[in-house]
Amino acid sequence: MARILVTGGTGYIGSHTVVCLMEQGYDVVIVDNLSNSNVEVLDGIEKIVGRRPDFENIDCLDFTNMDRLFDRYTDIEAIIHFAASKAVGESVEKPLLYYRNNIVSLVNLLELMSKHSVHHIVFSSSCTVYGQPDAQHLPVDETAPIQKALSPYGNTKQINEEIIQDTCHANEHIHATILRYFNPIGAHPSAEIGELPNGVPNNLLPFVTQTAAGLREKLRVFGDDYNTPDGSCIRDYIYVLDLAKAHVKAVERMLSGKAEEQVEIFNLGTGRGLSVLEILRTFIKVSGVNVPYEIVGRREGDIEQVWAKPDRANKVLGWKADTPVEDVLLSAWKWEKHLRGIK
Ligand code: UFG
Repeated sequence: MARILVTGGTGYIGSHTVVCLMEQGYDVVIVDNLSNSNVEVLDGIEKIVGRRPDFENIDCLDFTNMDRLFDRYTDIEAIIHFAASKAVGESVEKPLLYYRNNIVSLVNLLELMSKHSVHHIVFSSSCTVYGQPDAQHLPVDETAPIQKALSPYGNTKQINEEIIQDTCHANEHIHATILRYFNPIGAHPSAEIGELPNGVPNNLLPFVTQTAAGLREKLRVFGDDYNTPDGSCIRDYIYVLDLAKAHVKAVERMLSGKAEEQVEIFNLGTGRGLSVLEILRTFIKVSGVNVPYEIVGRREGDIEQVWAKPDRANKVLGWKADTPVEDVLLSAWKWEKHLRGIK
């Protein structure tokens, strides 16, 4: 079976994808500098799969050591590139850190792909590239216009998509799949791996589960005066394991030569938009735990509503995100309880 290089493979989406790849029989080598993840994630992966992935503590910015890695693992057939900085707010404070980390890493990988004859790459992009789509573009498909990024983080995703397009245009041997994720949530049902936010979570679900676990006093709901049915923002929350499975499909499609375009782009979402208050109420219902909350002002830079039209991924990749949100929320709660030692 082919070997896949997974950058950022000890991170949240990366670790779930490594599990899915290994369960399908792929050999995996993870490259991660552990800047926003924990080496114990490897134990979690091993417990689930029964095998341990190869792991290299290398920063993707370090061209020399990445080059040596490709010399050592001559059987790499595809790369899934997750490694990136991802905090929107931090990117506004430290734009150059984001431009360096997110862009130089990809440039290094693309150069090394040519040098070492690795021809397939899957890139983690984001629905952030669509900004707030017009009403006529909701749900949003892959043809919706790309809008000016609202943060340096979002801009790095757009620039990286362009770098991939330009590189593939210039080099017919390189094939890429760009996956535009909506909002990943939840954890592996075993609760051996899950999301490990650094400090106070920015994202909704880790904040909800930490509040339920008593770590936070209350959830702040950012705005109830949006033009949505209940006034809170709407997102397309996708189960991280469903998202992980799409990566396996994307790799399979490229390795089997079935990709019809040199660069293929897929929106990965459920096709269903849920509001912040719907998520909160559903979580309280399925967990049976109260989550105190207050409505506060809008968060700067938030998009009012966005959800995916995932038809292309459904048809072309033969993939669907179909885990019920109740199960997904429970998986996140099970993971939080596991972390905090709550029965
Ligand atoms: N929210 C709250 N309270 C919180 C946290 C979030 O009300 O404490 C709300 C937000 O205002 C938003 C929704 O919950 O309406 C989702 O917020 P997240 O921060 O979880 O997710 P975002 O949609 O803002 O951002 C996510 C990723 C980004 C990515 C973006 C693409 O975190 O990396 O999707 O749209 F760029």
